[in-house]
Amino acid sequence: MIFLRSDSMRFSTIYLDNAATTRLDDKVLEEMIPYYTKHYGNASSLHSYGYDAKEAMDESRETISKILHSDFEDIIFTASGSEANNMAIKGLSFSEPNKKHIITTKIEHKSITNQLDWLETRGYRSTYLDVDKEGFVNLEQLEKSLEKTKDTLLVSIIHGNNEVGTLQDLEKIGKICKKYNVPFHIDACQSFTKSTIDVKKMNISLASINAHKIHGPKGIGALYISKEVKLTPLIHGGQQEFKKRAATENIPGIVGFAKAAEINNSSKISKQVTKLRDDLIKGLEKIVDSKLNGPKGEKRLYNNVNFSFKGIEGEALGGYLDQKSICTSTGSACSSKSLEPSPVLRAMGLDYEDANSSLRMSVSKYNTEEEIDYTIKATEEIVQKLRKISPIYKRK
Ligand SMILES: Cc1ncc(COP(=O)(O)O)c(C=O)c1O
Repeated sequence: MIFLRSDSMRFSTIYLDNAATTRLDDKVLEEMIPYYTKHYGNASSLHSYGYDAKEAMDESRETISKILHSDFEDIIFTASGSEANNMAIKGLSFSEPNKKHIITTKIEHKSITNQLDWLETRGYRSTYLDVDKEGFVNLEQLEKSLEKTKDTLLVSIIHGNNEVGTLQDLEKIGKICKKYNVPFHIDACQSFTKSTIDVKKMNISLASINAHKIHGPKGIGALYISKEVKLTPLIHGGQQEFKKRAATENIPGIVGFAKAAEINNSSKISKQVTKLRDDLIKGLEKIVDSKLNGPKGEKRLYNNVNFSFKGIEGEALGGYLDQKSICTSTGSACSSKSLEPSPVLRAMGLDYEDANSSLRMSVSKYNTEEEIDYTIKATEEIVQKLRKISPIYKRK
């Protein structure tokens, strides 16, 4: 077995990177294990092992469809949230080859933006909607853009932003899309079970979700596909998933996904995590020259905290916090190795320095008030230390 750095500090680590991924819930693991060891049948097989697998999958699909207020057969399991996002956009583009315009926002995840960059090399055009200083999408611009172009394939909008936690008003956006009869896709990988999503009431055509952000397993996601949109499959092969996605189904993953969703779809957890988030925000706000990025209250993902600390580098702060066994993140997990400051923060109007001085801390039900207090103290101490050697901060 390889030596893991985190093993040596496992019992004291404060994990505040739950927007990147979460610890698997023990109850989820318990539910999954029998589908590796005992009920390992292929859901397409015509024997008792196959029927058991199919039944477990059906129950899981039912659980997830209820949470989204969708029909059972409109939920398609995928291998990730990224795959669901690709299936939504590319799958629709293959079905509607004459529609070459896509509307999205300036604060999307890479699994949307890199896809659109690729589509642009194949003749597509994208409109990136502006956001305000809290990260809310400009709805007037959305209407204007829909009015102006007659070949819009879809509107794709991130529901809960992975960096700053802004939750968009799906009902309002859904109404606008309906008025122009354009399909509406949401990337709900951060918000699923944390914020209400009613696909019918909100006029949502496609919704991407995944399990590993809610204490479920990695490598499993799903796409809600309304009956009103026709998608061409990205993966051809067998007849699985209502002929929309070939491949032998990942039954343990699917079962784990449903269990995680069932557990996390709870107002008790929501209240508990919201309190941790707000206590962390209150504590960090007391640090001189600190500023919360994104909104406060219900319009923010209940587990997201993102701050800029004037005059320092977010990367350096994250590094020092790691030395104190506190795991945080600058930007999204997928782009945190890049040196460019977050495009999301830049789109919200932060200048280069403030965007560079930001740090995300994302909490979960496994964090404690003691951890939050310790983190606030440690952050204040490190920020002060870094500012003493910061040429930019001294100048202010
Ligand atoms: C908003 C958002 N969309 C999509 C994804 C991709 O999900 P997955 O890691 O399951 O591919 C993530 C995960 O980082 C995310 O935060």
